[in-house]
Amino acid sequence: MSERALNHLPEELRESAIAVARTREDRVRRVQRGDSFPELSLTDRKAWLEDFHPDYRADGRRALRVGVNKNQGIPVELANLLEAWPRASVRQLLQGGTIPEADYETDVLVIGAGGAGVTAAIEAAKRGLDVLIATKLRAGDSNTIMAEGGIQGADQECDSPLQHYLDVLGGGHFSNDPELAEALCQDGPEALAWLEELGMLFDKYPTGRMRVRHGGGTSRKRLHSSGDMTGLEMMRVLWDECRNLANVQVMEFSPIVELLTDDDGRVVGAIIERLTHNNEVRVIQAKSVILATGGLGRLHLQSFPTSNHYGATADGLVLTYRAGLPFRDLQHNQYHPSGIAFPEQKAGLLITEKFRGLGAQLVNRFGDEFVYSLEPRDVTTAAIIRECSEFSHGATTPSGNVGVWLDIPMIDDLHGKGTIEREFPGRFSEFSRHGIDLTKVPVLVYPTLHYQNGGVRIRGDGATGLPGLYAAGEVTGGVHGKNRLMGNALLELIVFGLRAGRAAAEFALSTNPGGAAGLSHIESYLEDLKAANIDETRTAPMLLPRYGKALAI
Ligand code: FUM
Repeated sequence: MSERALNHLPEELRESAIAVARTREDRVRRVQRGDSFPELSLTDRKAWLEDFHPDYRADGRRALRVGVNKNQGIPVELANLLEAWPRASVRQLLQGGTIPEADYETDVLVIGAGGAGVTAAIEAAKRGLDVLIATKLRAGDSNTIMAEGGIQGADQECDSPLQHYLDVLGGGHFSNDPELAEALCQDGPEALAWLEELGMLFDKYPTGRMRVRHGGGTSRKRLHSSGDMTGLEMMRVLWDECRNLANVQVMEFSPIVELLTDDDGRVVGAIIERLTHNNEVRVIQAKSVILATGGLGRLHLQSFPTSNHYGATADGLVLTYRAGLPFRDLQHNQYHPSGIAFPEQKAGLLITEKFRGLGAQLVNRFGDEFVYSLEPRDVTTAAIIRECSEFSHGATTPSGNVGVWLDIPMIDDLHGKGTIEREFPGRFSEFSRHGIDLTKVPVLVYPTLHYQNGGVRIRGDGATGLPGLYAAGEVTGGVHGKNRLMGNALLELIVFGLRAGRAAAEFALSTNPGGAAGLSHIESYLEDLKAANIDETRTAPMLLPRYGKALAI
């Protein structure tokens, strides 16, 4: 490796990067011989997870004191947020005793404008209903748009939805909701076809055949990508479609702060605050509501960095838990193995698993492999933490962050010069801006909080336990069980976005408009908060992340 290529690495990392380059040729030769690092036994996987994965740290969770999941242990930061009082705006409404007349009326209200929300809105609107999307930040601001590597779907001859299903269950340690996992895999090929019909540009061979790759824990190559900007390309076509539907309206900077129910317990709308209008409160009345608020990365569980977008603050969980809906698997969150550890200003952002799908290996500071790089995600993460903590085999950045190397340059050695630039145009140009040439220099990585595996319980059509309320995407739990495999999040939001959109539309079409909107569904929760002596200054949803000292929620 030339001196020049290393120029932008600090002294502390340079020697270690040279060690990685020294072992590369031998590692490439071994891969070419089919002599890859052995996969872990099931016993070792279990032991490494229990000893090193953040989900299993007893001091990372606490038992809930209030609500339907009382006594269950979940991440401390999330428990603090769930056990919190409504925001001042809602408490004022509660004190006033009545909900003002609706400012907006719609057939279907969609909360959230990421992939699941927009998909659901399209599907509901195609049934001729008026749809209003209310979203906290800008249209499209979401984890979807940041998704890099790809979307799974069993559309190849050598594959089948059944094979996909077995992988999803294995990846989830057989804790998934089988009905939801089956829906995901069964609808997969159709979801891919739908996206193509909308105009999504997938990576293909000159023959027109899809280029598919392996992801961690998959028995078949079924990862479909658009370079390393798959989510961006997906949102492009979803928004195009959505904007072409005259019966869809979008309200940006309008987070939901409480659901509204009628006397029969049916969800009939929501209260929003308008961030660009001094947080003024507005009331939306709807015949049905679809929750697609995404995940919780910005809670920075156990102080981990995150790959998530700025609005990922678990708002949907707060509102539904308060309304009495149970959740599942929230003690299991995904720490993606390859968050960027250097350059430090990018810490936590993602460097896609697709690099490993194309052969990049994880190696320690001596350039040695320590784990098969395509183990299921939670296992790979545990292995990296083990390598850095138990053996101190990580490399350390100038500000003290530790990480292992993702040996990206070996991809060109394995697949030919130009592969990295062609397959990863986004990351290639992003790193060039820091003077780092991915074809020559490995990247230092460390696990980053990436995905909320659990969430609100739903049925196969997205229905929740509250009549009139449907949910789709990362806010829900069950599809992936304790651990999601790469590419199944993008698939989930299409499959369940379509299902929820359809079911919410049918509900809106087949029922009366619903009764007067109120907040009685949260009354018993508020009583419980009082009984548990929860500090009244603790309020939720938080809407925007709290940084600096206030990070402790
Ligand atoms: O590595 C990645 O590109 C992430 C994909 C995913 O979480 O599905």
